[in-house]
Amino acid sequence: MRKLYKVQEAWTKSIQLLYADAFRTSSAARVPLFFFCFRMIAYILYTALAGLALLPLFLYLRNPYIFKDLNHAVARIKMGLRISKFKKNKPFYSLLDCFLDQVVRQPHKKFLLFEENSYTYSQADKESNKVARALSTHAHLKEGDTVALLLGNEPHFVLVWLALTKLGCISSLLNCNLRSKSLLHCFSCCEAKVLVAGADLREAVEEVLPSLNQQGVRVFILGEGCDVEGIESLSDKIQQASDEPLSPKMRANVHIKSLALYIYTSGTTGLPKAALINHQRLWLVSFLQLLNGVRSDDVIYMYLPLYHTSGFLLGLCGAIERGITVVLRRKFSASHFWNDCRKYNVTVIQYIGEIMRYLCNTPKRDNDRDHKVRVALGSGIRADTWADFLQRFGDIRIRECYGATEGNIGFVNYVGKVGAIGKENFLHKMACPYALIRYDTEKEEPVRDSRGFCIEVPRGDTGLLVAKIGERNPFNGYAKNTQQTEKKKVRDVFVKGDLYLNSGDLLKIDDEGFLFFQDRIGDTFRWKGENVATTEVADHLLMVDCIEEANVYGVKVPGHEGRIGMAALKLKENMDFDGKATYQHVKNYLPSYARPRFIRIQDALVITGTFKQMKVKLAEEGFNPATTMDPLFYLEDNKGYVPMTQEIFDSITEGRIRL
Ligand SMILES: *[C@@H]1O[C@H](CO)[C@@H](O)[C@H](O)[C@H]1NC(C)=O
Repeated sequence: MRKLYKVQEAWTKSIQLLYADAFRTSSAARVPLFFFCFRMIAYILYTALAGLALLPLFLYLRNPYIFKDLNHAVARIKMGLRISKFKKNKPFYSLLDCFLDQVVRQPHKKFLLFEENSYTYSQADKESNKVARALSTHAHLKEGDTVALLLGNEPHFVLVWLALTKLGCISSLLNCNLRSKSLLHCFSCCEAKVLVAGADLREAVEEVLPSLNQQGVRVFILGEGCDVEGIESLSDKIQQASDEPLSPKMRANVHIKSLALYIYTSGTTGLPKAALINHQRLWLVSFLQLLNGVRSDDVIYMYLPLYHTSGFLLGLCGAIERGITVVLRRKFSASHFWNDCRKYNVTVIQYIGEIMRYLCNTPKRDNDRDHKVRVALGSGIRADTWADFLQRFGDIRIRECYGATEGNIGFVNYVGKVGAIGKENFLHKMACPYALIRYDTEKEEPVRDSRGFCIEVPRGDTGLLVAKIGERNPFNGYAKNTQQTEKKKVRDVFVKGDLYLNSGDLLKIDDEGFLFFQDRIGDTFRWKGENVATTEVADHLLMVDCIEEANVYGVKVPGHEGRIGMAALKLKENMDFDGKATYQHVKNYLPSYARPRFIRIQDALVITGTFKQMKVKLAEEGFNPATTMDPLFYLEDNKGYVPMTQEIFDSITEGRIRL
């Protein structure tokens, strides 16, 4: 109290001095009264200030995350304001414009580092001008055309995309692991007139070339001189082109809601679906780096495939927004990971759940903490891996983000709470209403009450995440697939006529508002960070001679994230399981992560009351030969299907066999 009085005294004194002149001129009799009033006011002011100073403490005791919540809310508001400004700009300010501004601001800063090559911002700009000119001249591209890209992680992925954006074209990012039928399917989803493929993917292109030529598609390969009829080389044409900037008039009609990309997702069923990504979405996802504290002096390490959302939108687009350096790698390698980080002074890494575990599984080294990585952005890390990772590799801010390529909602765990995929934020919930609703995993549909409405689960219970579809949270759906687009929508959720997007994910929210991932529903499971569409795998199995029916599902394996593929098969009458033919077929037509690792032979496949295959029960029964009477087979690496034994089972569950 004495201290307070002293401060107050000093405060009054200083004011006194300041106003000394004024006091001198005032009448002597009024002075004491004036001082009294002044002191009163000062006192009241002081008390109010002290109260204000204590308010944060009070709020903090009520909610320890209040400042982070507020901070995040403010950042999101700023983001929203920026986007509405971009929208109002005439012409609209795109991520490409942002790139071009970075080129002006920092022409000599490194943009892409790849193997022994590098491109500064200015070099990348010029090179993409050349690509754009080559494509515009030889492929006769014009604004609004769609071009499919079949490229691995290499600088030309980025340069070709920049070039196409400069021409006002739409890029369709094909998964470079896809072959034959699946590849053609993806191609026809986007109705591209032109295909640009990497030199290393020539065989895959040749396989589908007759079909492409038949559809009148122009095929370019990033190589020099090509002797195959129907394939044109692009590299020589790029070299000959001028690097003069392209007129913005070429993309004058592109606006924020225009289609920018097709990104393929295996979603819930069937062949891959082309999610429609517009320019607004490009901006929204790119802001995640800013939201998670990535700075303009950071260096990001990019090994996730650029044809997926996390690599392209979160990684590349975010890097352009921040104006940072991108270290590009063809693919993930646990043994090179930290050496690369050290070599390139990487400060930001990306992950998908399994990656972090792979890193933790590498042999311990003395220099494990010798690196500059400070932020890790991604999704799907398990709580135990999270803790292991921090302990082993030091103080890295792990920022778990939740969102789907085609989804209309995302969460960010901006607090860094171990195990959570995000945190609720009052503002967020207001802007994009969402709910966790009760879900029947047996019937595979939301539970409805007597009036036919969905039921929100109480806090702490697991429920299906649904997010309201609206102007600000649109669901753009899939290209040329109204059936699948409709299937993602849920109507009459809380009131008659409302419309929500079914995320397909079962989540839980705790008392503090942290969200936790529980499971993925429906016909998809995740393995090695990839979605596996069970019906697609089943379709392939049905092509094998001996198989009459196939039910594909994912089973959990101790110590592994996600689920590994398993198939219950009904064989044709009087036929035995032909392991060799089955292996040949899945090996030829499915990427390794989608191949059924376990096979279970049944006399008849169980179906649900709604004539859907029963997956949940089979998935729970798993692959233990001791608990099932059905014959089981196991896919041994480079060998094929062998009968499942107790020994194999034990080796897998005890981690001696790595899947
Ligand atoms: C990494 O940082 C060190 C020291 O700050 C510097 O000497 C080195 O040149 C940097 N390496 C790269 C590839 O930028």
